[in-house]
Amino acid sequence: MNGFIGAPNGPERMLRVRLLLSIAVALVAMLPGLSFAQAPSAQHPHGAGRPTPVPSKITEGQLPGGTLGKQSSEIWKKLREGERGAINIPDEKAAQLIRGRAKRLNTEADIRRAMELRRQQSDAADTGNIASWVEYRKGPLARYGAYGMLGMLALLVVFYFVRGPVRIEHGKSGRVIDRFATIERVGHWLVAVSFIILGLTGLALLYGRSVLIPVLGKEAFASIAMTGKLLHNYIAFSFMAGLAMIFVAWVKDNIPHPRDLEWVAKGGGVLLKSVHPPAKKFNAGQKVVFWVVILGGISMSLSGLALMFPFEMPLFAKTFAALNTIGFTLPTNLSPVEEMQYSSAWHAIVALVLICVILAHIYIGSIGMEGAFDAMGSGKVDLNWAREHHGLWVEEVENKAPDKIDSREMQSMHPAE
Ligand code: HEM
Repeated sequence: MNGFIGAPNGPERMLRVRLLLSIAVALVAMLPGLSFAQAPSAQHPHGAGRPTPVPSKITEGQLPGGTLGKQSSEIWKKLREGERGAINIPDEKAAQLIRGRAKRLNTEADIRRAMELRRQQSDAADTGNIASWVEYRKGPLARYGAYGMLGMLALLVVFYFVRGPVRIEHGKSGRVIDRFATIERVGHWLVAVSFIILGLTGLALLYGRSVLIPVLGKEAFASIAMTGKLLHNYIAFSFMAGLAMIFVAWVKDNIPHPRDLEWVAKGGGVLLKSVHPPAKKFNAGQKVVFWVVILGGISMSLSGLALMFPFEMPLFAKTFAALNTIGFTLPTNLSPVEEMQYSSAWHAIVALVLICVILAHIYIGSIGMEGAFDAMGSGKVDLNWAREHHGLWVEEVENKAPDKIDSREMQSMHPAE
């Protein structure tokens, strides 16, 4: 017969006795826990598994340390201000509990008051980075960015009316020369169209509150900002693709050369009439545009990716450390939040500088110079235009690939005409 059902033998009986004893001990041990669960204390409202509270004579039932708000208001103040604590887990950003003070403040007036307080405490270098960053975005960044862009637009308008469009001095020859292959033009327009969309959507994010909300209202701005942000994130990748294309296509023609100095000394031939300094495929001004677009574009792409994937790409501490080896004294112990703030600031600064440069580029590539647009439109330019602006390049083509020059009449697409 099965020993478990029938009368137990010696060892089996011992086993049963031990089992019963264990159950009894476990039940006794659970008793305080059960009574605690029935009567939650002020200290541990959820109570389970915690020791029964014994009202202390010293605190008279209040929490030691006054976490209800009195003695520790300093702690909460510091947390609200973005103070970092010490942690020993890998996720460094967890050290800072509250990372967007401005978001926690309810009204514009709250934010202003908090910023003013922060300024008075003048400890921006330590914990005030969040407030000072918000302040910087709405203040100097937005202000100098607007000065730069409006200043450049004003300069171009003045230049247009004083100097007028740069004409083809010898008139059109009726013969054209191949300037840019289809692949080069595809690369250019990929960069150009993406940049314009990125620029407009980026500006809407930076200036939307102050410029668009008063005109369009909050609801319309909200949908513009949402769509703009999505566009900004996705178009960034076509910008990067175009950037890679034009880099590969044009880098060999953009290496600086001593003859570029002569071009600069003669004002690029655009300030005075009848001056045509020698240039190969790209002149010194275009080389500057090329390198500003390539280096600025790479830098903007990296800082943009760091913003798109928050806390995944800390770049600034390493960059600052590298710069410190050549004499800079930049901070290298950056918190994850500070890394994000540097990325955001740098992204916007580079974008604003690039926008100013590109405004001038768009002017000279369209209404500012007769015959220039054809280079990126049809890919062919008038031979006289090419001789006046890129004489050395034309000589090169005549010697190496004369078939790129033909006598077909060219339909100019120049908007200045
Ligand atoms: C409507 C806007 C634009 C127009 C009409 C335009 C026009 C042109 C033209 C005609 C050229 C060739 C100049 C030549 O044959 O020597 C050119 C070149 C170039 N474009 Fe644009 N462009 C525009 C926007 C942009 C944008 C947004 C970027 C970059 C963000 C850009 C970057 C470049 C670069 C790097 C070159 C080669 C260097 C140079 O010629 O300056 N372009 N563009």
